[in-house]
Amino acid sequence: MKTFISGIQPTGDMTLGSYLGAIKNHVQLADIADTTTYYCVVDLHAITVRQEPQRLRDFTYSVAAWYLAAGLDTSKSTLFVQNHVRAHTELGWILNTFTQVGELERMTQYKDKSKQHKHNVNAGLLTYPVLMAADILLYNTTHVPVGDDQKQHLELTRNVAQRFNGVYGDVFVVPEPMIPKVAARVMDLQDPTSKMSKSQESNGTVYLKDEPAQITKKFKRAVTDNIANVAWDPIEQAGVTNLLSIYCASKGITPEQAVAEFTGKGYGDFKTTIAEAVIAEVAPIQNRYKELMADKAELDAIFKKGAEKASAQAETVLAKVKDVMGFVR
Ligand code: TYM
Repeated sequence: MKTFISGIQPTGDMTLGSYLGAIKNHVQLADIADTTTYYCVVDLHAITVRQEPQRLRDFTYSVAAWYLAAGLDTSKSTLFVQNHVRAHTELGWILNTFTQVGELERMTQYKDKSKQHKHNVNAGLLTYPVLMAADILLYNTTHVPVGDDQKQHLELTRNVAQRFNGVYGDVFVVPEPMIPKVAARVMDLQDPTSKMSKSQESNGTVYLKDEPAQITKKFKRAVTDNIANVAWDPIEQAGVTNLLSIYCASKGITPEQAVAEFTGKGYGDFKTTIAEAVIAEVAPIQNRYKELMADKAELDAIFKKGAEKASAQAETVLAKVKDVMGFVR
């Protein structure tokens, strides 16, 4: 029996990167027999960077609506909002005392974000990964399906869990990261050296809500190189390799298969074919997304059910933690 949990921050419109690197895989995992899956809209993580209240609210619904539009079945999977399950912040506090400031300061996301938000290097930005460890450890999680950028946070989660278990016995399951083989780090189409991100505006970001014509335009303008040969080479041909990985993840094929398909073809045809594959992937879920966003009451009902299921599990682990530590309950 495997248990999966993952989270997405409600900090912007959903990108093709988060979809191919996370949501698409999450939906598929939920359909496998003998798995328990939890997906969480991590609003408490989002506030480590200042958020406008209406946008936070809208994007919280939006993340959930994309999951559902992509086919997540809530009878098989628990979809919930982080702030609805209080055990997350409570365990987060406890785990702070098992985490060294030095190891948090080494996190690359912390270093990047504290450069981007110089005026607001708040303590939450530093302790962000501790809350993430709590998200994961509350569910006896065996596997955490995430993009490549979260690997370091997962390593920290494992260290914190092992440190706690070293003192108090085997309370936490030590989770494994699960990074996809392709599209683990979808890059910006205009700058293939930087990650496609929902919290940073760029013409090289493809949004799930983009109209087909916009998607085609963005792919046609994607930065490539002057080698004029479609090959898988992340160093010399970062742009082309990024497009190939998007194609592989959209079609469910391997890099070898993708490269073989484009041998001898020019970059123009190559880009058009990739845009078409992406449109075929996202167009069918766009209508469903719009319908879901028009019915907030239905989304609220899903959140309520999700929070009840998640809380029931989270409370059992939190109680165990409190008991072994000597808290009077
Ligand atoms: P977030 O919101 O930045 O991203 C959500 C998920 O999407 C993946 N992702 C990408 N994958 C490929 N290419 C990209 N360009 C791309 N951009 C984003 C991320 O790797 C992630 O899987 N800290 C997490 C949220 C979190 C979490 C958790 C995850 C909080 N608690 C517990 C797992 C388990 C984050 O900021 O994700």
